[in-house]
Amino acid sequence: MKIHRPTSLLVLSILLLADDEAGKIMRPADKSSHKSGTVDIVATAPSGKLELDGKPLEVAQPFPNVFHGEMKVAPGAHSLVLKWEGGRKEVRFFSGPNAPAEFTAFQQHPPIAGIECTQCHELTARARFRFKGGCFDCHKTDGFEKVHTHPSGMLEECGMCHNAHGSTVKAHLLHTKETACKLCHQ
Ligand code: HEC
Ligand code: HEC
Ligand code: HEC
Ligand code: HEC
Repeated sequence: MKIHRPTSLLVLSILLLADDEAGKIMRPADKSSHKSGTVDIVATAPSGKLELDGKPLEVAQPFPNVFHGEMKVAPGAHSLVLKWEGGRKEVRFFSGPNAPAEFTAFQQHPPIAGIECTQCHELTARARFRFKGGCFDCHKTDGFEKVHTHPSGMLEECGMCHNAHGSTVKAHLLHTKETACKLCHQ
């Protein structure tokens, strides 16, 4: 059989891209430190499996294919791996005090105890887990336009630019402001 290389490579890279997007570790953030020794995990992948330092980790799935659990982790550096068919993600984090310089303090969001996932998420009629909004139950809309250059209706996919589960960087930004604006502005 004759294979057109460029085509098969293109198809392969599209498949790989699709796979790479299928699994996500929303928290903890990569290279984050957790002084209290308690780490809250949020992740998703189709039929995914989690491993802590190479050993299988049982974490509850409150929604289909969505992992969530809070746990005490022994002091020191750790690796959390999410595996699914055709993909893998890894984050490294530090538990306990005196984290080495390569780790930055994790700021969980919202920084309020007892906020449910359903503050911002819902299951659709077809059991798809999705973001529904809910940020402005706590944040003021006035002032949004000044910071964002656009009214909130135009930037309603907050997850384009923010990790709403927490992060190690200012304003929980996923990219620099410049890159974030370039998502739409060439
Ligand atoms: C303050 C609002 C907020 C809360 C609370 C919240 N999330 Fe999210 N979550 C988001 C946003 C925003 C996104 C990005 C949505 C997007 O890009 O489509 C997201 C994305 C996700 C994703 C990735 C979905 C995907 O397929 O890309 C998962 C999984 C997830 N959240 C799980 C949880 C779990 C579990 C909880 C509760 C422990 C939770 N979230 C609490 C706002 C929140
Ligand atoms: C295009 C990227 C982008 C999107 C989409 C986006 N933001 Fe932002 N957001 C930013 C940037 C950039 C900052 C400024 C960070 C800084 O202070 O340098 C910011 C700052 C914030 C802040 C801190 C504001 C302050 O007063 O300092 C909040 C709260 C916030 N965003 C909420 C939201 C909410 C809620 C949504 C969805 C409705 C959203 N953002 C969508 C890029 C975005
Ligand atoms: C249950 C209340 C609550 C909800 C819902 C909520 N936040 Fe927050 N958020 C807070 C609090 C409290 C803070 C810390 C105080 C502050 O900076 O305003 C904060 C901080 C932030 C910051 C960091 C501000 C900074 O200057 O570092 C961003 C960005 C942010 N939230 C975005 C969002 C986005 C996006 C959503 C929806 C996906 C959301 N928040 C939903 C309560 C909430
Ligand atoms: C979700 C896509 C999207 C994102 C992200 C986005 N913009 Fe825009 N922006 C638009 C669209 C569409 C227009 C043109 C429509 C309008 O003027 O309302 C526009 C118009 C503008 C304009 C008016 C001037 C012009 O070129 O027409 C400015 C200034 C601007 N954006 C700045 C920003 C900045 C700064 C950011 C990052 C904080 C950003 N935008 C992020 C979609 C986006």
